[in-house]
Amino acid sequence: MRMEKVNIKWEELGFDAIQTRSMFKATCSIDGKWSGGSLVPYGNIELSPAAGVLNYGQGVFEGTKAFHTSKDNIVLFRIDRNAKRMAWSTKRLCIPEMNPEFFKNAVVATLKDNFDYVPPYGKGSMYIRPIVWGTAPALGVRAVSEYTFMVFLSPVGSYFKAGVRPLNLKVETDYHRAAPRGIGNAKAIGNYSASLYPLTMAKKEGFDEVIYLDANNENQIEELGSANLFIVKDGIVKTPKLSGSILDGVTRNSVCKIASELLKLKVFETDVTINELIKSDEVFCTGTAVVVTPVGKITYNNEVYEINKNQPGPIAAKCKELLSAIQRQEIDDPFGWIKPVIKGS
Ligand code: COI
Repeated sequence: MRMEKVNIKWEELGFDAIQTRSMFKATCSIDGKWSGGSLVPYGNIELSPAAGVLNYGQGVFEGTKAFHTSKDNIVLFRIDRNAKRMAWSTKRLCIPEMNPEFFKNAVVATLKDNFDYVPPYGKGSMYIRPIVWGTAPALGVRAVSEYTFMVFLSPVGSYFKAGVRPLNLKVETDYHRAAPRGIGNAKAIGNYSASLYPLTMAKKEGFDEVIYLDANNENQIEELGSANLFIVKDGIVKTPKLSGSILDGVTRNSVCKIASELLKLKVFETDVTINELIKSDEVFCTGTAVVVTPVGKITYNNEVYEINKNQPGPIAAKCKELLSAIQRQEIDDPFGWIKPVIKGS
């Protein structure tokens, strides 16, 4: 198929929602199964002021990306993992558990209908946002009787405005992101609203993002508001283990596999202390939105620690290069992570 594109200034893409042709929409009752749904024109939605999502935050979402590749295909990356996490997140928030096949079909249908908004090879990616929320009214605290699922998407460039400059982060000592046995490991909208105040305060002080501490042990780090975190010391890669309050990131898992299986490095999913963090040779964060972004400065209790002389580190760079090369079909996909959706001519 010949892939003509819409008229967008691809070089100027940041990480903002750009309206596309259509979005997917389905509804489900609390005792029902997810099925059906259809593409509708992209646009605003109507909601009761008593909707469960507005009053009690009953909503979860996903983030995944599609790429226009060097082989002229449009592909999805590890969509099975997003589908699995959506099933867990819906269950945890008392939303009818979403069937992974239903989820994947909705993502594929939305992507196909908006294929001409996918940035050309080498010019960014298509960020896909499946989201589900409680639509029916609730005045008392309870799981509501009806839910809406939508998939919308937007062409994107870099998440951080700074582009490739190493990030300037602050270790957040006043607020936690998630509580033990809370909803930190579900992609719940509430996790992100909890991060807004610390993030806004940190940005006012000139930081790009914050590093949250483990609420059980404040000597250990967890993750950023928008990404997972890795450290490297003497060639050994570590990332905080999935404790229940950390998001099981798709990029986190991919980087663990790339570092251990392709770069042959020792990788540990384990406890990571602040002391290890500030003495690291490299620090970087990972996520669908942020991809692999190096960290250059960390402030902890008003002390500033420079990581790798505030330069991007070699291991982060290699992980990013291999990840991007797999996603863009520039090298073979040794893990079976790529799912072609549209084949170019
Ligand atoms: C993602 O990386 O897809 C995320 O969900 C982080 C986001 C809140 C931008």
